[in-house]
Amino acid sequence: MHRRRFLTLAALASALPLAARAAVDHAAMGHGPAPADPHAGMDHAGHHGAAPAARSAPAVALPEGAPLPALAPLANRSRQAGRFVGELVAAPARVGLAADGRSTEVWAYNGSLPGPLIEVYEGDTVEIDFVNRLPQPTTIHWHGLPVPAEQDGNPMDPVAPGERRRYRFTLPADSAGSYWYHPHPHGHTAEQVFRGLAGAFVVKSRRDPLGQLRDVPLLLSDLRLDEHAAIPPNTPADWMDGREGDYVLVNGALRPVLTLADGERVRLRVWNATSARVLRLALPGYETWRVGSDGGLIEAPRREAEIVLSPGERAEWVVTGRAQPGALVALPYRRGKMMSAEVDETLTLASLAPAARVASAPLPRRLRRIAPLPAPAVRRQIVLEENMADPKAMFTLNGRVYDMARADFVGRVGQVEEWEVVNRADMDHPFHLHGTQFQVLARHDGRGWRDEPYRAWRDVVSLPAGHAVRLRFVQALPGMRMFHCHILEHEEQGMMGQIDVRG
Ligand code: C2O
Ligand code: CU
Ligand code: CU
Repeated sequence: MHRRRFLTLAALASALPLAARAAVDHAAMGHGPAPADPHAGMDHAGHHGAAPAARSAPAVALPEGAPLPALAPLANRSRQAGRFVGELVAAPARVGLAADGRSTEVWAYNGSLPGPLIEVYEGDTVEIDFVNRLPQPTTIHWHGLPVPAEQDGNPMDPVAPGERRRYRFTLPADSAGSYWYHPHPHGHTAEQVFRGLAGAFVVKSRRDPLGQLRDVPLLLSDLRLDEHAAIPPNTPADWMDGREGDYVLVNGALRPVLTLADGERVRLRVWNATSARVLRLALPGYETWRVGSDGGLIEAPRREAEIVLSPGERAEWVVTGRAQPGALVALPYRRGKMMSAEVDETLTLASLAPAARVASAPLPRRLRRIAPLPAPAVRRQIVLEENMADPKAMFTLNGRVYDMARADFVGRVGQVEEWEVVNRADMDHPFHLHGTQFQVLARHDGRGWRDEPYRAWRDVVSLPAGHAVRLRFVQALPGMRMFHCHILEHEEQGMMGQIDVRG
Protein backbone atom coordinates (compact mmCIF):
# COMPACT_ATOMS: atom_id res chain seq x y z
CA MET A 1 0.00 0.00 0.00
CA HIS A 2 2.70 2.48 1.05
CA ARG A 3 4.96 1.29 -1.72
CA ARG A 4 2.18 1.81 -4.15
CA ARG A 5 1.53 5.33 -2.98
CA PHE A 6 5.21 6.09 -3.22
CA LEU A 7 5.34 4.88 -6.82
CA THR A 8 2.26 6.85 -7.57
CA LEU A 9 3.77 10.05 -6.29
CA ALA A 10 7.02 9.46 -8.12
CA ALA A 11 5.05 8.77 -11.27
CA LEU A 12 3.00 11.89 -10.88
CA ALA A 13 5.93 14.21 -11.22
CA SER A 14 6.82 12.78 -14.61
CA ALA A 15 3.21 12.63 -15.70
CA LEU A 16 2.45 16.28 -15.31
CA PRO A 17 4.09 17.52 -18.48
CA LEU A 18 1.86 15.25 -20.55
CA ALA A 19 -1.22 16.18 -18.63
CA ALA A 20 -0.44 19.83 -19.11
CA ARG A 21 0.21 19.19 -22.77
CA ALA A 22 -3.11 17.42 -23.18
CA ALA A 23 -4.83 20.49 -21.80
CA VAL A 24 -3.01 22.74 -24.22
CA ASP A 25 -3.78 20.45 -27.17
CA HIS A 26 -7.34 20.50 -26.13
CA ALA A 27 -7.49 24.27 -26.07
CA ALA A 28 -5.72 24.43 -29.43
CA MET A 29 -8.43 22.20 -30.88
CA GLY A 30 -10.94 24.91 -30.20
CA HIS A 31 -12.44 23.71 -26.97
CA GLY A 32 -11.83 26.86 -25.07
CA PRO A 33 -9.10 27.88 -22.69
CA ALA A 34 -6.72 25.37 -21.20
CA PRO A 35 -7.96 24.17 -17.85
CA ALA A 36 -6.46 25.47 -14.64
CA ASP A 37 -2.90 24.93 -13.53
CA PRO A 38 -2.26 21.18 -13.44
CA HIS A 39 -0.52 21.53 -10.10
CA ALA A 40 -3.86 22.39 -8.60
CA GLY A 41 -4.83 18.79 -9.12
CA MET A 42 -1.70 17.61 -7.39
CA ASP A 43 -2.51 19.22 -4.09
CA HIS A 44 -5.16 16.72 -3.33
CA ALA A 45 -3.46 13.88 -5.14
CA GLY A 46 -1.64 11.21 -3.24
CA HIS A 47 -1.78 12.67 0.25
CA HIS A 48 -1.87 9.60 2.36
CA GLY A 49 -3.49 10.05 5.72
CA ALA A 50 -4.22 13.73 5.20
CA ALA A 51 -7.83 14.28 4.29
CA PRO A 52 -7.90 14.62 0.51
CA ALA A 53 -9.44 17.89 -0.50
CA ALA A 54 -13.02 16.85 -0.99
CA ARG A 55 -14.29 17.66 -4.43
CA SER A 56 -15.43 21.25 -4.24
CA ALA A 57 -19.17 21.73 -4.09
CA PRO A 58 -20.86 21.72 -7.51
CA ALA A 59 -20.76 25.15 -9.13
CA VAL A 60 -24.41 24.95 -10.14
CA ALA A 61 -27.42 23.46 -8.38
CA LEU A 62 -29.64 21.00 -10.22
CA PRO A 63 -33.29 20.39 -9.38
CA GLU A 64 -33.72 17.07 -7.65
CA GLY A 65 -36.36 14.70 -6.37
CA ALA A 66 -38.68 14.69 -9.40
CA PRO A 67 -40.37 11.42 -10.39
CA LEU A 68 -37.97 9.12 -12.25
CA PRO A 69 -38.10 10.14 -15.92
CA ALA A 70 -38.80 7.31 -18.36
CA LEU A 71 -36.29 7.01 -21.19
CA ALA A 72 -37.92 8.44 -24.31
CA PRO A 73 -38.28 5.62 -26.85
CA LEU A 74 -36.92 6.04 -30.39
CA ALA A 75 -39.85 5.94 -32.80
CA ASN A 76 -40.00 2.97 -35.16
CA ARG A 77 -40.81 4.21 -38.67
CA SER A 78 -41.26 0.69 -40.05
CA ARG A 79 -44.71 -0.88 -40.36
CA GLN A 80 -43.21 -4.26 -41.05
CA ALA A 81 -42.99 -6.86 -38.27
CA GLY A 82 -39.40 -7.76 -37.38
CA ARG A 83 -37.98 -4.53 -38.74
CA PHE A 84 -37.03 -1.42 -36.80
CA VAL A 85 -36.22 1.77 -38.68
CA GLY A 86 -35.22 4.82 -36.69
CA GLU A 87 -33.37 8.09 -37.07
CA LEU A 88 -30.66 9.47 -34.82
CA VAL A 89 -29.17 12.93 -35.22
CA ALA A 90 -26.12 13.86 -33.17
CA ALA A 91 -26.07 17.62 -32.69
CA PRO A 92 -25.44 20.38 -30.19
CA ALA A 93 -28.62 21.20 -28.25
CA ARG A 94 -29.53 23.60 -25.48
CA VAL A 95 -31.24 22.02 -22.51
CA GLY A 96 -32.33 23.25 -19.11
CA LEU A 97 -30.34 21.44 -16.43
CA ALA A 98 -29.54 24.13 -13.85
CA ALA A 99 -32.13 24.89 -11.18
CA ASP A 100 -31.79 28.64 -11.82
CA GLY A 101 -33.10 28.36 -15.37
CA ARG A 102 -29.84 28.94 -17.29
CA SER A 103 -29.53 26.57 -20.23
CA THR A 104 -26.58 24.31 -21.03
CA GLU A 105 -25.20 23.32 -24.40
CA VAL A 106 -24.94 19.54 -24.60
CA TRP A 107 -24.25 17.23 -27.52
CA ALA A 108 -27.18 14.90 -27.79
CA TYR A 109 -28.89 12.30 -29.94
CA ASN A 110 -32.21 13.78 -31.10
CA GLY A 111 -31.85 16.54 -28.51
CA SER A 112 -32.45 14.10 -25.68
CA LEU A 113 -30.29 13.52 -22.60
CA PRO A 114 -29.63 10.58 -22.39
CA GLY A 115 -30.29 9.55 -26.00
CA PRO A 116 -33.56 7.84 -26.95
CA LEU A 117 -34.12 4.27 -25.78
CA ILE A 118 -33.96 1.80 -28.66
CA GLU A 119 -36.13 -1.19 -27.88
CA VAL A 120 -36.28 -4.15 -30.27
CA TYR A 121 -36.74 -7.93 -30.23
CA GLU A 122 -34.33 -10.78 -30.85
CA GLY A 123 -34.25 -11.56 -34.55
CA ASP A 124 -35.22 -8.01 -35.60
CA THR A 125 -33.48 -6.18 -38.39
CA VAL A 126 -32.45 -2.73 -37.22
CA GLU A 127 -31.82 0.21 -39.53
CA ILE A 128 -30.69 3.50 -38.06
CA ASP A 129 -30.39 6.53 -40.29
CA PHE A 130 -27.74 8.63 -38.70
CA VAL A 131 -26.88 12.28 -39.28
CA ASN A 132 -23.78 13.92 -37.81
CA ARG A 133 -24.39 17.58 -37.04
CA LEU A 134 -21.47 17.82 -34.63
CA PRO A 135 -18.38 19.93 -35.35
CA GLN A 136 -16.29 16.71 -35.27
CA PRO A 137 -16.30 13.30 -36.92
CA THR A 138 -18.19 10.65 -34.99
CA THR A 139 -19.52 7.09 -35.23
CA ILE A 140 -22.20 5.12 -33.40
CA HIS A 141 -20.85 2.05 -31.66
CA TRP A 142 -23.43 -0.57 -30.62
CA HIS A 143 -21.77 -1.49 -27.37
CA GLY A 144 -22.10 -5.22 -26.63
CA LEU A 145 -24.21 -6.12 -29.64
CA PRO A 146 -23.10 -8.83 -32.07
CA VAL A 147 -23.29 -6.63 -35.17
CA PRO A 148 -21.10 -6.89 -38.30
CA ALA A 149 -17.77 -5.09 -37.86
CA GLU A 150 -18.49 -2.60 -40.67
CA GLN A 151 -21.76 -1.60 -38.90
CA ASP A 152 -20.22 -1.30 -35.44
CA GLY A 153 -19.05 2.32 -35.55
CA ASN A 154 -15.36 1.41 -35.50
CA PRO A 155 -12.85 4.28 -35.37
CA MET A 156 -11.87 3.56 -38.99
CA ASP A 157 -15.42 4.29 -40.20
CA PRO A 158 -15.98 7.92 -39.18
CA VAL A 159 -19.01 9.92 -40.25
CA ALA A 160 -17.72 13.42 -41.08
CA PRO A 161 -19.50 16.57 -39.86
CA GLY A 162 -22.60 17.13 -42.01
CA GLU A 163 -22.59 13.57 -43.35
CA ARG A 164 -25.11 10.79 -42.88
CA ARG A 165 -24.97 7.04 -42.95
CA ARG A 166 -27.25 4.10 -42.37
CA TYR A 167 -26.32 1.46 -39.81
CA ARG A 168 -27.97 -1.87 -40.49
CA PHE A 169 -27.82 -5.19 -38.66
CA THR A 170 -29.94 -8.19 -37.72
CA LEU A 171 -29.98 -9.37 -34.14
CA PRO A 172 -29.40 -13.08 -33.64
CA ALA A 173 -31.57 -15.42 -31.54
CA ASP A 174 -30.77 -15.48 -27.81
CA SER A 175 -29.36 -11.95 -27.86
CA ALA A 176 -31.86 -10.38 -25.41
CA GLY A 177 -30.07 -8.04 -23.01
CA SER A 178 -29.27 -4.48 -22.01
CA TYR A 179 -26.82 -2.83 -24.39
CA TRP A 180 -26.04 0.76 -25.26
CA TYR A 181 -24.79 3.01 -27.99
CA HIS A 182 -22.20 5.78 -27.93
CA PRO A 183 -19.66 7.46 -30.22
CA HIS A 184 -16.32 5.78 -30.97
CA PRO A 185 -14.37 8.09 -33.29
CA HIS A 186 -10.61 8.19 -32.95
CA GLY A 187 -9.65 11.02 -30.61
CA HIS A 188 -13.10 12.36 -29.73
CA THR A 189 -14.89 9.59 -27.88
CA ALA A 190 -14.38 10.84 -24.33
CA GLU A 191 -15.51 14.37 -25.14
CA GLN A 192 -18.56 13.31 -27.13
CA VAL A 193 -19.73 11.05 -24.32
CA PHE A 194 -19.20 13.56 -21.51
CA ARG A 195 -21.09 16.17 -23.54
CA GLY A 196 -24.09 13.82 -23.55
CA LEU A 197 -23.95 11.31 -26.41
CA ALA A 198 -25.05 7.91 -25.10
CA GLY A 199 -28.28 5.94 -25.08
CA ALA A 200 -29.71 2.60 -23.97
CA PHE A 201 -30.46 -0.25 -26.37
CA VAL A 202 -32.66 -3.06 -25.05
CA VAL A 203 -33.13 -6.32 -26.92
CA LYS A 204 -36.19 -8.18 -25.65
CA SER A 205 -37.15 -11.82 -25.89
CA ARG A 206 -40.64 -13.03 -26.77
CA ARG A 207 -40.16 -15.80 -24.21
CA ASP A 208 -38.87 -13.74 -21.32
CA PRO A 209 -39.15 -15.61 -17.99
CA LEU A 210 -39.36 -12.21 -16.25
CA GLY A 211 -41.70 -10.69 -18.82
CA GLN A 212 -44.45 -10.22 -16.20
CA LEU A 213 -42.35 -7.81 -14.12
CA ARG A 214 -42.35 -4.05 -14.49
CA ASP A 215 -39.16 -3.25 -16.35
CA VAL A 216 -37.37 -0.12 -15.13
CA PRO A 217 -34.30 1.06 -17.07
CA LEU A 218 -31.88 3.17 -15.02
CA LEU A 219 -29.14 4.76 -17.09
CA LEU A 220 -26.46 6.22 -14.83
CA SER A 221 -24.38 9.01 -16.33
CA ASP A 222 -22.05 11.67 -15.08
CA LEU A 223 -22.32 15.44 -15.44
CA ARG A 224 -20.04 18.35 -14.59
CA LEU A 225 -21.09 21.99 -14.96
CA ASP A 226 -18.93 25.06 -14.48
CA GLU A 227 -20.09 28.36 -12.97
CA HIS A 228 -21.67 29.34 -16.32
CA ALA A 229 -23.75 26.14 -16.28
CA ALA A 230 -21.60 24.93 -19.20
CA ILE A 231 -19.92 21.54 -19.58
CA PRO A 232 -16.18 22.25 -19.22
CA PRO A 233 -13.41 20.42 -21.10
CA ASN A 234 -11.26 17.76 -19.47
CA THR A 235 -8.61 18.82 -16.97
CA PRO A 236 -5.19 17.18 -16.71
CA ALA A 237 -6.53 15.18 -13.76
CA ASP A 238 -9.40 13.94 -15.94
CA TRP A 239 -6.94 12.74 -18.58
CA MET A 240 -5.05 10.88 -15.89
CA ASP A 241 -7.81 9.41 -13.75
CA GLY A 242 -10.76 9.43 -16.10
CA ARG A 243 -13.41 12.13 -15.83
CA GLU A 244 -15.95 12.14 -13.05
CA GLY A 245 -18.53 14.87 -12.81
CA ASP A 246 -20.30 16.65 -9.98
CA TYR A 247 -23.43 14.56 -10.19
CA VAL A 248 -24.41 11.04 -11.14
CA LEU A 249 -27.69 11.33 -13.03
CA VAL A 250 -30.34 8.64 -13.36
CA ASN A 251 -32.11 8.82 -16.72
CA GLY A 252 -30.80 12.38 -16.94
CA ALA A 253 -32.21 13.49 -13.55
CA LEU A 254 -30.59 14.15 -10.19
CA ARG A 255 -31.80 11.90 -7.37
CA PRO A 256 -35.20 11.12 -8.90
CA VAL A 257 -37.89 9.19 -7.07
CA LEU A 258 -38.96 5.71 -8.11
CA THR A 259 -42.27 4.62 -6.66
CA LEU A 260 -42.25 0.97 -5.71
CA ALA A 261 -45.24 -0.64 -4.03
CA ASP A 262 -44.76 -2.68 -0.87
CA GLY A 263 -44.29 -6.29 -2.02
CA GLU A 264 -43.97 -5.37 -5.71
CA ARG A 265 -41.11 -6.99 -7.61
CA VAL A 266 -39.52 -4.88 -10.32
CA ARG A 267 -36.74 -5.58 -12.74
CA LEU A 268 -34.13 -2.84 -12.65
CA ARG A 269 -31.81 -2.66 -15.63
CA VAL A 270 -28.83 -0.56 -14.69
CA TRP A 271 -26.28 0.96 -17.07
CA ASN A 272 -23.01 2.46 -15.95
CA ALA A 273 -22.73 4.99 -18.76
CA THR A 274 -20.26 7.19 -16.88
CA SER A 275 -16.83 7.79 -18.38
CA ALA A 276 -14.82 6.57 -15.43
CA ARG A 277 -16.74 5.89 -12.21
CA VAL A 278 -16.86 2.46 -10.66
CA LEU A 279 -20.30 2.26 -9.06
CA ARG A 280 -20.73 -0.05 -6.10
CA LEU A 281 -24.50 -0.16 -6.06
CA ALA A 282 -26.72 -1.19 -3.20
CA LEU A 283 -30.35 -0.94 -2.11
CA PRO A 284 -29.98 -1.12 1.67
CA GLY A 285 -32.87 -2.92 3.39
CA TYR A 286 -34.38 -4.39 0.21
CA GLU A 287 -34.44 -7.98 -0.99
CA THR A 288 -32.34 -7.93 -4.15
CA TRP A 289 -31.60 -10.67 -6.67
CA ARG A 290 -29.18 -10.36 -9.53
CA VAL A 291 -30.83 -11.80 -12.62
CA GLY A 292 -28.70 -10.49 -15.46
CA SER A 293 -25.40 -9.10 -16.70
CA ASP A 294 -24.32 -7.22 -19.85
CA GLY A 295 -25.53 -9.92 -22.23
CA GLY A 296 -28.93 -10.63 -20.65
CA LEU A 297 -30.23 -13.08 -18.06
CA ILE A 298 -28.00 -15.36 -16.04
CA GLU A 299 -29.01 -18.98 -15.44
CA ALA A 300 -30.67 -18.54 -12.06
CA PRO A 301 -31.38 -15.60 -9.73
CA ARG A 302 -28.59 -14.96 -7.20
CA ARG A 303 -28.97 -13.17 -3.93
CA GLU A 304 -26.66 -10.16 -4.39
CA ALA A 305 -26.92 -7.21 -2.07
CA GLU A 306 -24.24 -5.20 -3.89
CA ILE A 307 -23.37 -4.97 -7.55
CA VAL A 308 -20.11 -3.40 -8.64
CA LEU A 309 -20.59 -1.89 -12.09
CA SER A 310 -17.54 -0.58 -13.89
CA PRO A 311 -17.78 2.02 -16.64
CA GLY A 312 -19.65 0.53 -19.60
CA GLU A 313 -21.07 -2.39 -17.60
CA ARG A 314 -24.75 -3.31 -17.06
CA ALA A 315 -26.70 -5.50 -14.66
CA GLU A 316 -30.27 -6.61 -14.09
CA TRP A 317 -31.56 -6.75 -10.55
CA VAL A 318 -34.95 -7.78 -9.19
CA VAL A 319 -35.95 -5.75 -6.16
CA THR A 320 -38.97 -6.14 -3.90
CA GLY A 321 -40.67 -3.02 -2.56
CA ARG A 322 -41.09 -2.37 1.15
CA ALA A 323 -43.49 -0.35 3.29
CA GLN A 324 -40.72 2.16 4.17
CA PRO A 325 -38.94 4.59 1.87
CA GLY A 326 -35.41 3.75 0.78
CA ALA A 327 -32.69 4.55 -1.73
CA LEU A 328 -30.45 3.29 -4.47
CA VAL A 329 -26.94 4.23 -3.38
CA ALA A 330 -23.37 4.04 -4.62
CA LEU A 331 -21.10 2.96 -1.75
CA PRO A 332 -17.56 4.36 -1.38
CA TYR A 333 -15.10 2.86 -3.84
CA ARG A 334 -11.39 3.56 -4.32
CA ARG A 335 -10.14 2.95 -7.81
CA GLY A 336 -6.55 4.11 -7.43
CA LYS A 337 -6.97 7.62 -8.75
CA MET A 338 -3.73 9.59 -8.85
CA MET A 339 -4.70 13.23 -9.21
CA SER A 340 -8.26 13.47 -7.93
CA ALA A 341 -9.87 12.62 -4.63
CA GLU A 342 -11.45 9.19 -4.22
CA VAL A 343 -15.18 9.02 -3.56
CA ASP A 344 -15.25 8.11 0.10
CA GLU A 345 -18.86 8.91 0.82
CA THR A 346 -22.06 7.10 -0.03
CA LEU A 347 -23.94 8.76 -2.87
CA THR A 348 -27.69 8.62 -3.05
CA LEU A 349 -28.56 8.04 -6.70
CA ALA A 350 -32.34 7.71 -6.44
CA SER A 351 -34.95 7.48 -3.72
CA LEU A 352 -37.57 4.77 -3.49
CA ALA A 353 -41.03 5.81 -2.36
CA PRO A 354 -43.45 3.14 -1.08
CA ALA A 355 -47.05 2.65 -2.22
CA ALA A 356 -49.94 0.44 -1.06
CA ARG A 357 -49.13 -3.25 -0.88
CA VAL A 358 -49.48 -5.48 -3.94
CA ALA A 359 -48.79 -9.17 -4.41
CA SER A 360 -46.06 -10.33 -6.78
CA ALA A 361 -45.50 -13.79 -8.22
CA PRO A 362 -42.37 -15.57 -6.98
CA LEU A 363 -39.21 -15.39 -9.07
CA PRO A 364 -38.69 -18.35 -11.39
CA ARG A 365 -35.86 -20.65 -10.27
CA ARG A 366 -34.36 -20.99 -13.74
CA LEU A 367 -34.00 -18.10 -16.11
CA ARG A 368 -31.93 -19.35 -19.00
CA ARG A 369 -29.35 -21.92 -19.98
CA ILE A 370 -25.82 -20.67 -20.73
CA ALA A 371 -23.66 -23.41 -22.19
CA PRO A 372 -20.04 -23.25 -21.04
CA LEU A 373 -17.62 -22.45 -23.87
CA PRO A 374 -15.43 -25.46 -24.71
CA ALA A 375 -11.63 -25.65 -24.47
CA PRO A 376 -9.91 -22.86 -26.40
CA ALA A 377 -8.07 -23.15 -29.70
CA VAL A 378 -5.92 -20.13 -28.78
CA ARG A 379 -4.73 -18.62 -25.54
CA ARG A 380 -3.52 -15.04 -25.27
CA GLN A 381 -2.39 -12.75 -22.53
CA ILE A 382 -3.21 -9.05 -22.38
CA VAL A 383 -1.25 -6.96 -19.90
CA LEU A 384 -2.52 -3.52 -18.92
CA GLU A 385 0.12 -1.12 -17.72
CA GLU A 386 0.70 2.51 -16.84
CA ASN A 387 3.97 4.13 -17.72
CA MET A 388 3.99 7.64 -16.41
CA ALA A 389 7.48 8.21 -17.80
CA ASP A 390 6.32 8.09 -21.42
CA PRO A 391 3.83 10.82 -22.22
CA LYS A 392 3.03 9.22 -25.59
CA ALA A 393 2.30 5.82 -24.09
CA MET A 394 1.03 6.28 -20.56
CA PHE A 395 -1.69 3.65 -20.72
CA THR A 396 -0.74 0.55 -22.67
CA LEU A 397 -1.95 -2.91 -23.64
CA ASN A 398 0.94 -5.37 -24.04
CA GLY A 399 3.32 -2.43 -24.01
CA ARG A 400 1.74 -0.60 -26.94
CA VAL A 401 -0.81 2.07 -27.62
CA TYR A 402 -3.61 1.77 -30.15
CA ASP A 403 -2.84 1.93 -33.85
CA MET A 404 -5.80 1.77 -36.20
CA ALA A 405 -3.58 0.33 -38.91
CA ARG A 406 -2.27 -2.55 -36.83
CA ALA A 407 -3.95 -5.85 -35.95
CA ASP A 408 -2.63 -6.83 -32.55
CA PHE A 409 -3.98 -10.35 -33.00
CA VAL A 410 -5.43 -12.42 -35.82
CA GLY A 411 -8.33 -14.69 -34.89
CA ARG A 412 -10.85 -16.89 -36.66
CA VAL A 413 -14.62 -16.86 -36.85
CA GLY A 414 -16.06 -19.60 -34.62
CA GLN A 415 -12.82 -20.24 -32.76
CA VAL A 416 -12.82 -20.33 -28.96
CA GLU A 417 -10.28 -17.86 -27.54
CA GLU A 418 -9.14 -17.78 -23.96
CA TRP A 419 -7.64 -14.51 -22.74
CA GLU A 420 -5.89 -13.83 -19.52
CA VAL A 421 -6.18 -10.11 -18.89
CA VAL A 422 -3.76 -8.84 -16.26
CA ASN A 423 -3.90 -5.40 -14.67
CA ARG A 424 -0.33 -4.52 -13.68
CA ALA A 425 -1.16 -0.88 -13.16
CA ASP A 426 -2.04 1.19 -10.09
CA MET A 427 -5.56 2.09 -11.18
CA ASP A 428 -8.59 -0.04 -11.98
CA HIS A 429 -8.92 -0.52 -15.75
CA PRO A 430 -12.29 -2.07 -16.75
CA PHE A 431 -11.76 -4.28 -19.80
CA HIS A 432 -14.17 -4.32 -22.75
CA LEU A 433 -14.30 -6.38 -25.96
CA HIS A 434 -16.32 -5.55 -29.10
CA GLY A 435 -18.46 -7.80 -31.27
CA THR A 436 -19.38 -10.56 -28.86
CA GLN A 437 -19.97 -11.50 -25.23
CA PHE A 438 -17.50 -13.42 -23.10
CA GLN A 439 -17.66 -15.75 -20.12
CA VAL A 440 -15.40 -15.04 -17.16
CA LEU A 441 -13.87 -18.31 -15.93
CA ALA A 442 -11.78 -17.13 -13.00
CA ARG A 443 -10.47 -14.02 -11.29
CA HIS A 444 -7.16 -13.39 -9.58
CA ASP A 445 -7.27 -10.89 -6.72
CA GLY A 446 -3.51 -10.48 -6.38
CA ARG A 447 -3.25 -13.50 -4.05
CA GLY A 448 -4.71 -16.37 -6.02
CA TRP A 449 -7.18 -17.52 -8.65
CA ARG A 450 -10.80 -18.07 -7.78
CA ASP A 451 -13.26 -19.73 -10.13
CA GLU A 452 -16.13 -17.53 -11.17
CA PRO A 453 -19.12 -18.73 -9.10
CA TYR A 454 -21.64 -18.52 -11.93
CA ARG A 455 -21.82 -18.22 -15.72
CA ALA A 456 -22.84 -14.96 -17.34
CA TRP A 457 -22.44 -13.21 -20.67
CA ARG A 458 -20.43 -10.04 -20.33
CA ASP A 459 -18.64 -7.53 -22.50
CA VAL A 460 -17.04 -5.49 -19.70
CA VAL A 461 -15.22 -6.91 -16.74
CA SER A 462 -14.05 -4.93 -13.76
CA LEU A 463 -10.29 -5.21 -13.30
CA PRO A 464 -8.95 -3.66 -10.09
CA ALA A 465 -5.24 -2.84 -9.81
CA GLY A 466 -3.15 -6.00 -9.42
CA HIS A 467 -6.01 -8.29 -10.43
CA ALA A 468 -6.41 -10.56 -13.45
CA VAL A 469 -9.27 -12.39 -15.18
CA ARG A 470 -9.52 -15.38 -17.45
CA LEU A 471 -12.27 -15.23 -20.02
CA ARG A 472 -13.45 -17.12 -23.09
CA PHE A 473 -15.31 -16.01 -26.16
CA VAL A 474 -16.13 -16.78 -29.76
CA GLN A 475 -16.52 -14.17 -32.49
CA ALA A 476 -19.30 -15.23 -34.84
CA LEU A 477 -18.58 -12.57 -37.47
CA PRO A 478 -15.41 -11.51 -39.30
CA GLY A 479 -13.71 -8.13 -39.09
CA MET A 480 -11.66 -5.87 -36.87
CA ARG A 481 -12.78 -5.82 -33.21
CA MET A 482 -11.47 -3.44 -30.58
CA PHE A 483 -10.73 -4.28 -26.94
CA HIS A 484 -9.91 -1.54 -24.48
CA CYS A 485 -10.12 0.03 -21.08
CA HIS A 486 -13.61 1.55 -20.78
CA ILE A 487 -12.36 4.57 -18.85
CA LEU A 488 -12.85 6.70 -21.92
CA GLU A 489 -9.88 8.99 -21.30
CA HIS A 490 -7.61 5.94 -21.16
CA GLU A 491 -9.09 4.45 -24.30
CA GLU A 492 -8.58 7.79 -26.02
CA GLN A 493 -4.90 7.85 -25.03
CA GLY A 494 -4.44 4.44 -26.63
CA MET A 495 -5.27 1.80 -24.02
CA MET A 496 -6.87 -0.16 -26.82
CA GLY A 497 -5.99 -2.92 -29.23
CA GLN A 498 -7.73 -4.83 -31.98
CA ILE A 499 -8.15 -8.37 -33.18
CA ASP A 500 -8.63 -9.10 -36.87
CA VAL A 501 -11.16 -11.93 -37.00
CA ARG A 502 -10.91 -13.76 -40.31
CA GLY A 503 -13.72 -15.77 -41.89
CU1 C2O B 1 -18.47 1.08 -25.12
CU2 C2O B 1 -15.33 0.32 -27.56
O1 C2O B 1 -16.89 0.76 -26.30
CU1 CU C 1 -18.03 -1.65 -27.26
CU1 CU D 1 -8.05 2.55 -17.80
